[in-house]
Amino acid sequence: MPAIRTLSALAVVAGLALAACSAPAGGEDNGNDAAPLASPAALTDAQKAALLAELPEPYRSADLAKGEALYAMCRSCHTYVQGGTNMTGPNLWGTFGAKAGHIAGFNYSDALKASGLTWDVATMDKWIENPRGLVEGTKMSYVGMKSPEDRAALIAFLKVNTSPAK
Ligand code: HEC
Repeated sequence: MPAIRTLSALAVVAGLALAACSAPAGGEDNGNDAAPLASPAALTDAQKAALLAELPEPYRSADLAKGEALYAMCRSCHTYVQGGTNMTGPNLWGTFGAKAGHIAGFNYSDALKASGLTWDVATMDKWIENPRGLVEGTKMSYVGMKSPEDRAALIAFLKVNTSPAK
């Protein structure tokens, strides 16, 4: 029954194609592609706008697409979706408004835990500009982002993608 054999061969091929689609791109599993929770795509433009409206200028009207591109600087160490894994750095979901070191089960440096910082646009901006300048002794090995426009875009992107929808 060659026709049936062909059909089941097709089914196997289709199954493989599906498996390939759900695998993380580039073999780099950082949880951002795979996790179904609070996918940024699930936010409507109105919900994004409501979250951005909580920020002062220049963050409020910063370029989200640029921020997403700049997140490439962070993604080797951080996931940001709700429930995303901790990697070299902690998952960033819920960062805005949280105390530094808030993710249970992540092994933060003593320096960050003792910093007493709360993450808002001002502290986040200084952190991204120069982590070690803000918290001497942090174990986040990131050189810092010099451009204020770039930091504003990245912070706007993080706000929209790490906060519960309004
Ligand atoms: C080389 C890995 C690495 C890179 C790249 C990196 N981080 Fe981190 N990040 C860390 C580590 C490790 C910590 C924990 C620092 C500590 O405990 O001192 C951290 C902590 C943080 C925190 C504090 C989180 C909390 O729960 O208090 C924020 C916010 C953060 N990173 C944002 C960023 C952003 C935004 C970028 C990209 C511009 C970035 N990180 C790039 C490793 C990294």
